[in-house]
Amino acid sequence: MKKFNITIAGGGSTFTPGIIMMLLDYLDEFPIDTIKLYDNDEARQKTIADACEIILKERAPEMKLIASVDPEEAFTNVDFVMAHIRVGKYAMRELDEKIPLRHGVVGQETCGPGGIAYGMRSIPGVLELVDYMEKYSPDAWMLNYSNPAAIVAEATRKLRPNSKILNICDMPIGIEELIAKNLGLESRKEFEVNYYGLNHFGWWTDIRDKKGNSLMPEVIRHVSEHGYATDGSSELEKQESWNNTLKKARDVQALDPHTVPNTYLKYYFFPTQEVEHSNPEYTRANEVMDGREKFIFTQCQNIIDKGTAKDTELTVDEHASYIVDLAKAIAYNTKERMLMIVENQGSIINFDPTAMVEIPCIVGSNGPEKLVVGEIPRFQKALMEQQVGVEKLVVEAYEEASYQKLWQAITLSKTVPNAAVAKAILDDLIEANKAYWPELK
Ligand code: NAD
Ligand code: G6P
Ligand code: MN
Repeated sequence: MKKFNITIAGGGSTFTPGIIMMLLDYLDEFPIDTIKLYDNDEARQKTIADACEIILKERAPEMKLIASVDPEEAFTNVDFVMAHIRVGKYAMRELDEKIPLRHGVVGQETCGPGGIAYGMRSIPGVLELVDYMEKYSPDAWMLNYSNPAAIVAEATRKLRPNSKILNICDMPIGIEELIAKNLGLESRKEFEVNYYGLNHFGWWTDIRDKKGNSLMPEVIRHVSEHGYATDGSSELEKQESWNNTLKKARDVQALDPHTVPNTYLKYYFFPTQEVEHSNPEYTRANEVMDGREKFIFTQCQNIIDKGTAKDTELTVDEHASYIVDLAKAIAYNTKERMLMIVENQGSIINFDPTAMVEIPCIVGSNGPEKLVVGEIPRFQKALMEQQVGVEKLVVEAYEEASYQKLWQAITLSKTVPNAAVAKAILDDLIEANKAYWPELK
């Protein structure tokens, strides 16, 4: 069996150790020769890399790990690039969330003005990775889950139309795991779904067991009463903010009783309540910095200090095994059915063919083949048109360095009440993002 070489771009990510440990669990199905870590923050990556090296030495000594900040070294002779960069790191996520909140607007990582600001930073970061990959390993595929995935996907569609880049999100997977749990199933792989929408902006229209029986009535009943809450034991529910988000799906679902929604639609349907429940001094970025980031870096430092990972509290990110499913689909032509972020091109018949939509695809060695969604209802279509408008305007604003288009994008976001507020937020975001954004004209 061929052994693959992989680059993890954003090697210093909080998700890297969990993903590497997950990859170790799947070596029988997806053999790996070398993992290369690439980051532009050498010190941050070193802590993660040194700890991962000890983990590998103890659990898969034949595998090689190379950490580098040199693109040539990191991207040469690889089969896959798994990309999860956060341009501006948590310091900038904090500002993405706090600046809109100062103006009474939703402050969120990927939705509303915060997501737009993050998008303007991520576009050049991800394009640079694509270019490195094509220069040093022209046959490789990029599996990208760097956020904001909707804007990044539109940017790669438009600016790198022939590149082998697959954009994917873990949110539907995470929700499907909760749905499976509530149905009393072992895994989400026991059912098949139909879903359509944009990234962080979509709806399940059908969920069926492998015999073809609809599970939808039971799923709808649960979500309409409890949202995606389970018995409280899931990892997400243990975090207060995620717990609220999962429960809030109940109110979101009421808008369309025949489907069940992506949780992040709450930011568009209930922005006022979201702001009321936010603490402008302590947002999700603060929670993650005090929680996940601190935990991962402390654990890695412990491994380094002790020279062993035998008693580490770091755990396998089983949830991230969808990345292996995707890599296997490409490598072995498995034709797995997966939700992917792809150019619509007629799959949703009554929708912009150039929009990047999140829909079921059959993934094989040539990439994703889209399934036909058909016609979508007026409510969803209108919401999606508005949101696609935002995402396309951001990419145009980036390309043209246009203040006007970015102002239009923020004004068009359903999270923003009017153009004056949009302008005030934009002016603050420009100030905060000077080191990252093109200078807008
Ligand atoms: P993190 O800040 O811990 O890690 C990101 C790393 O990227 C950092 O080490 C940083 O130095 C590095 N980086 C930033 N800009 C770079 C560049 N231009 N080139 C190379 N490296 C660069 O962040 P995290 O919380 O671990 O998240 C990582 C990314 O994964 C984020 O974009 C996050 O939104 C995304 N994510 C996506 C999904 C999804 O469903 N699509 C799920 C989880 C996380
Ligand atoms: C979900 C989304 C991701 C997002 C993450 C944020 O998994 O699909 O796109 O990055 O939530 O989680 P966090 O714990 O960083 O707030
Ligand atoms: Mn996502």
